[in-house]
Amino acid sequence: MVRHVVLVGLMGSGKTTVGRRLASHLGRTFVDADAALEEITDRTIAEVFAEDGERGFRAIEADVLEELLEHHEPTVIASGGGVVLSGENRRRLQQPNVTTVWLDASPAFLASRVETKAHRPLLAGGDSPRQVLERLHAEREHLYREVADIVVDVEPFHHGEEKPKRALAARIAELVLAHEADHPLEEVG
Ligand code: S3P
Repeated sequence: MVRHVVLVGLMGSGKTTVGRRLASHLGRTFVDADAALEEITDRTIAEVFAEDGERGFRAIEADVLEELLEHHEPTVIASGGGVVLSGENRRRLQQPNVTTVWLDASPAFLASRVETKAHRPLLAGGDSPRQVLERLHAEREHLYREVADIVVDVEPFHHGEEKPKRALAARIAELVLAHEADHPLEEVG
């Protein structure tokens, strides 16, 4: 069975940048789930939200996660921030061959960093990023906690390190390898 790493956390927590670096540390393939969704559907996330609504987007997001976790090579996946909303996704993230890492940070910190990009329609409403992130943090914190094998508070890295994302990726690589060593997969057959 192939092992995968999935990074979860709110928008602005650094899943994509840290994930890419983590993959290179571990010598594994990197996939950004939002980018994969856009490639598979041949539509932007903004278009999917506009045409299918958030519900439609979540259904496609679940299909994409399922597909990515079926990769035959060990993969580091940066998920979209809302992937934990689906019970089916949470079940998948808790499979023994999946190491799930939660990049946690306070809404204030995330709001100071998050960029309003086209793939983030949830930030495009009337509320400030701070208000949106406070709401999402309150709604999702327990779901990230439920699926996480490893929780990393990203803020100290940003305060104490010259290259925070590089330091984060190096630390997470250590934690992932230790987790995998502590939880060997049972040989099948
Ligand atoms: C979302 C986060 C986005 C993207 C979509 C919905 C969310 O991904 O999947 O806009 O519900 O938090 P990032 O967390 O990569 O920005």
